[in-house]
Amino acid sequence: MKICCIGAGYVGGPTMAMIAKQCADIPVHVVDLNEQRIDAWNSDQLPIYEPGLDEVVREARGRNLTFSTQVDAAIAEADMIFISVNTPTKTFGIGAGRAANLEFVEKCARQIARVSSGHKIVVEKSTLPVRTAEAVKRILANASTNASFDVLSNPEFLAEGTAIQDLLAPDRVLIGGESQAAIQSLVDVYARWVKKDRILTTNLWSSELSKLTANAFLAQRVSSINSISALCEATGADVDEVARAIGTDSRIGPKFLKASVGFGGSCFQKDILNLVYLCEHFGLHEAAAYWDQVVIMNDYQKRRFASNMVKTMFNTVSDKQIGMLGWAFKKDTNDTRESAAIYVCRDLLLERTRVHVYDPQVSETQIRADLEYLLRDESGELSSYKKSLIDNVKVVPDAYAAAKDSHAIAVMTEWDEFKNLDYSKIYTNMPQPAFVFDGRNILDREKLSNIGFEVHAIGKSRPTVG
Ligand code: NAD
Ligand code: UDX
Repeated sequence: MKICCIGAGYVGGPTMAMIAKQCADIPVHVVDLNEQRIDAWNSDQLPIYEPGLDEVVREARGRNLTFSTQVDAAIAEADMIFISVNTPTKTFGIGAGRAANLEFVEKCARQIARVSSGHKIVVEKSTLPVRTAEAVKRILANASTNASFDVLSNPEFLAEGTAIQDLLAPDRVLIGGESQAAIQSLVDVYARWVKKDRILTTNLWSSELSKLTANAFLAQRVSSINSISALCEATGADVDEVARAIGTDSRIGPKFLKASVGFGGSCFQKDILNLVYLCEHFGLHEAAAYWDQVVIMNDYQKRRFASNMVKTMFNTVSDKQIGMLGWAFKKDTNDTRESAAIYVCRDLLLERTRVHVYDPQVSETQIRADLEYLLRDESGELSSYKKSLIDNVKVVPDAYAAAKDSHAIAVMTEWDEFKNLDYSKIYTNMPQPAFVFDGRNILDREKLSNIGFEVHAIGKSRPTVG
């Protein structure tokens, strides 16, 4: 048995590293078109930051784990080929802003069809709209020569920041397919370290749809608690207390009830929009509107955070300085895709403020690229005005530098190091009144208030003074 994986990203890299670690006798070859990414996978500076990943890669790389750009050769040699390429929201044409862009998946299927001979199992690891396997099968059916294929759906449920733990001990592994023999081959791989009762098998379409549904349900919980956070701020209830109170109901459960500045990441918004598009495609308009509201609520939460900052700071932040702590979409990752920080920063820049950003894992190049992408116009151009706004952003080497001379600090990512900063020192280096806007509810409000800060947190009203 030989495995190949097309796509060395946040999913392909860690997932294949774990398979290689657990199955020392199976050669695993991860390929990508992006040479720079492959070079990084082959170096000591991996392209993604993920706790525990270094150790797993170090154990298997050079033994049975290989990274290269030799896509054709890797496909030709493999018995099982995982497709783990990106499936972003379409930005053009039919379904723009909603449907998934399946261009990269289709290209993989065509390439597999072109270079394969013998029997191969093609595994959809990317998150795909339900019935994509139909298209993949049709493309593969046109393969020349003597090739034959089985197609499986094996969506990935890892979350960034906890990917290694999620892969080591998954709640479940899901495998959808038609051929029992092909399903069994993949079950046998996972069964090396995952208990059999955690490996679920279904038909292809249930597997594809379950992935979109899982992400939609998770995101819905975040939007639900965030909607309540707005009501808490208006009424004097405390959103963390409400979350605790409802989370102890075993039917509701405590997870994914942390109110925040809004969910980010490459998956939630993309997958819900994809679900909305699918519902609309099948004429299910009420179902589409229902799920659309989860994204609308999230956009509202991000906007609300920035506008609360402006309102609180005497309705003007122009020519003021804000220290932003965190840029990644959650802690323990360097991924910034759809991070709430980008949107909040954009809104503040449009108010003509200066922003000093610090994130322990995100590079200045990435921060600038994120802002340029968001502030470009429809034709993809960045106007000189918008460029001048981005010039008001300075990326600094630590949290103290971000806070120094800032009128306010805004916590965007829940990095642990932000909890234990020397806030007394920070306070003395800020103009007064010094504001803190905690977009993650990780700071000790009482302690900060005692130092002298005016603290604003999500879903918490401020005590009336005097
Ligand atoms: P990514 O952008 O990090 O990686 C995708 C990689 O595929 C890129 O490096 C790209 O260069 C490569 N690629 C694209 N077309 C290619 C081709 N034709 N040949 C070779 N390489 C090609 O994306 P990701 O975050 O790893 O996500 C991959 C898929 O997994 C998506 O469908 C996503 O929805 C899904 N997913 C992601 C996560 C997550 O946490 N990021 C979790 C579960 C599922
Ligand atoms: C998600 C799914 O959890 C995972 O199963 C799937 O495979 C990919 O998409 P990911 O996006 O990596 O994973 O991270 P996740 O932990 O789900 O967080 C997503 C966003 O929601 C982050 O911005 C996070 O900060 C936010 N969030 C999460 C909250 O604001 N509150 C919560 O209670 C949980």
